[in-house]
Parts: sequence; C-alpha cells; structure tokens
Amino acid sequence: MSHGPAQPISARPGNALRGEAVIPGDKSISHRALILGAMAVGRSHITGLLEGQDVLDTAKAMQAFGAKVERLGPGEWIVDGVGVGGFAEPESVIDCGNSGTGVRLIMGAMATTPITATFTGDASLSKRPMRRITDPLSLFGAEITSREGGLLPVTIKGAVDALPVRYRTPVASAQIKSAVLLAGLNAPGETVVIEAEPTRDHSERMLAGFGAIITTETTEEGRVITLKGQPELVAQKVAVPRDPSSAAFPVAAALIVPGSVIRVNGISRNPTRDGLYVTLAEMGANLTWENDREEGGEPVADLIVRHSALRGVCVPPERAASMIDEFPILSVIAAMADGDTVMNGVAELRVKESDRIDAMAKGLRANGVEVSETGDSMTVHGKGIIPGGGAPVETYLDHRIAMSFLVAGLAAQAAIAVDDGAAIATSFPDFVPLMRGLGAALG
Ligand code: S3P
Repeated sequence: MSHGPAQPISARPGNALRGEAVIPGDKSISHRALILGAMAVGRSHITGLLEGQDVLDTAKAMQAFGAKVERLGPGEWIVDGVGVGGFAEPESVIDCGNSGTGVRLIMGAMATTPITATFTGDASLSKRPMRRITDPLSLFGAEITSREGGLLPVTIKGAVDALPVRYRTPVASAQIKSAVLLAGLNAPGETVVIEAEPTRDHSERMLAGFGAIITTETTEEGRVITLKGQPELVAQKVAVPRDPSSAAFPVAAALIVPGSVIRVNGISRNPTRDGLYVTLAEMGANLTWENDREEGGEPVADLIVRHSALRGVCVPPERAASMIDEFPILSVIAAMADGDTVMNGVAELRVKESDRIDAMAKGLRANGVEVSETGDSMTVHGKGIIPGGGAPVETYLDHRIAMSFLVAGLAAQAAIAVDDGAAIATSFPDFVPLMRGLGAALG
C-alpha cells in the first residue's frame, strides 16, 4: 500500500454499543479465492470478497501474471484463470503493499512456473522474514535472490522442471504451508507438508473445492497434508465468509464497554480459527451462539455478545495458531479483566505487520496498564481498568495495533489516540463507520 499522510484517530469512552456489526469478507479466504481463481481453468465468480488494500494488491498481482480480474460490484468479482502452470511473466515488479499473506502465497504460486518475478512491499513488509518461504521454494528448483537477511525485494526464477517436495514447517504458519502447496500444484508427483500444530486450513479446503486431490492425515508427527501435483483446477463460485479476525474488534468492544449488546452474524466456527472465542468463554464472556450452518464451505454461526465481567486466564501455546491475529485485541480485553492473562508460545507475533508484543506492551503501558513480556510470551496484569490518556500510540503500519487501541479507548477512563489509522484499510476499510454505527465515539 502506498503510504500517504498519517491519519491520527482517537477513541473516547462513552455510550454502550448496540446493534448489528456487519463484518467484511475473510482476508485469508479472499487472497486464496483470487489466487486459485487465477490458477484454474475458466471463470470463477467470487462474492463477499474483502475489498481491503491487501486483497486489492493480490488482485493486481494476478492481473500481472496474466489472469483477467474484474470487479462487477461491491464484493463481486470474476477471475478468468490461466490454468496451473499458465502464469505469464509480469512486466514489472509485483508490489504486495502491506500483505505478508499476499506476497508469500503468490511467491509459492509462481515458483514452479518457468518465469521470473520480483516482489516488493511497503516499509512494514520489507522488514518481515521471507526465508521461511524462499527456503522451501528453492527445494522445488526455483532460483531465488533476496536482499541481505532474506528480506524483500525478492526475485524468483521459477523452476523449469519442478521437483515435488516433502516439507516440515519449522514454525506453525499457514502462509508457509500454503506457499508450499501452491508451488506443489505445478510439480509432478506428490507434495507433502507436515505441520506439528494445526494452522488455518483454508488452502486445503479451497484446493479441494477447486478440484485438486488433497488429503490430510493426523499422525504422531502432526498433520500430514498430501497434494497430487498437476491437477486441472476448475473455476468455481466462491462465497467468501466473514472474517472472524475482524469480528474480534467489535466483539471485544461490546465485552468491555458497560451496557453493550451487539450481534455479529456469520462468525467462523472453524476450529483452526476460533481460539479467541474459546479463550473468551474461559474468561467468562457472555457469548450466545445461534444458527450454526455452513457458508462458503466454512462452519459459521451468529453471535450475540454482552458486556461481561471477565477474569484473566492462561492461554496455552498449542492454541496460539488458531488465534494468532487476535492476540493484540486479547491483550486489550485482558487489561479490562480481573487478574493476569498469560499468552504463551506467541513468538510469531514478533514478525507480523509489526512486532506485536512490543507494540501492544508499549501502547498499553503508555495508557497505564501493566504488561510483562519474554521472547515468546506476554502477560497483561488486568485490573479491570485502562486509565488511558497517554501520548498517541504508535501503530507501526499495523492495522490490528491501530484497531486494538481504538477499541481500548472506548472502555478507558480517558481518550486514547493512535498516531496513524491508515493501515486499517488493509483489512477492515469500514471499521470506523461500522464502530460509529454501534455508538462508538471514534474520530
Ligand atoms: C494467514 C496466516 C497467518 C496470519 C495471517 C493470515 C493466512 O500467518 O497471521 O494474517 O492467510 O494464511 P502465519 O501463517 O504466517 O502465522
């Protein structure tokens, strides 16, 4: 995302929140819908696509690789795919903006096609580790160069005669798993990914939906995912479900602002994404689930959230992957709880859009909340109060840090300001109007 002038925003404590929060499309599924649509034969029709900047950057990238990608109306897009192995060489550099998912999945998707592409991104993405992707992609036979330290820009010369790969992910990461599976599409034979802890399984579900032969077995080593290479992917209709990671912000606000009751429809109950909701139930959150059903191939349900008296809990490390994007907002909820909330096994937070442990700890401390941290854990010492009123919180081009502190301001004793809310548009472009519609004092 090209970064314009900073957009400071503040949140003031005030009214109870009431009404229905209509959550935008899932970011992970939106990226995958565009990428798989581009790798399929025929015209895919996508509804409910998240039109955040991250996903728009992926749409542009798919056009650069030769797919026709067109917007028909709000959230409604078509993709005319070029087939597995059909990507054309892009004429210029692929700029993935702020999006780690976008750049990593697209690198995987092109690495086994004999074309060359160079990838870049914004100041945040340019600091994030890419070796975790380029290492397994070179096993397929791709030739890869990067800036010192494995950083962007990265240039990939795709494998001419790709080899299938058997790869054990060194950290729990759906991005690594997905990059390897997408590369495996254009390799002969079977590509196998082994993950010790389950991570979000949207790639597996969607690859099967597009016609790939893919199986998942749970063994002593963890999850073993096997993909048969060189399938013909067939264009699909994809109805993108709502994003549970975005839903987490209004849900959190309703839990911590006294008197609030909100409804959020269509929240994912996929066990690889629902760790926050499991944790909130343990904290004593008043959550009512109704209407369990399937949407876009994902289990979903409607949620009614009421302001709740919460207690601190210990989040076990094996739950981290199923709520990896929700720790920033959990740390705000934890400040309003009674007692310590301990988040273990969260080292991956240090390599997200920002170092999220550092960013949350600094911002919470500046607003009067006690936080302790180690390399891979964070503890919020909850006292049921956020004094607020500190200097503007630094958000480091990180959408989830910005939204977390704006939610904190709604329940604090005094207003909280963030230095720049522009990055919110990467995942939740209507966050501010949606929260205002519920009664939040944001501006
Ligand atoms: C994502 C995977 C997660 C998550 C990111 C989206 C995906 O990253 O943080 O926002 O769509 O695969 P890791 O898999 O690297 O943990």
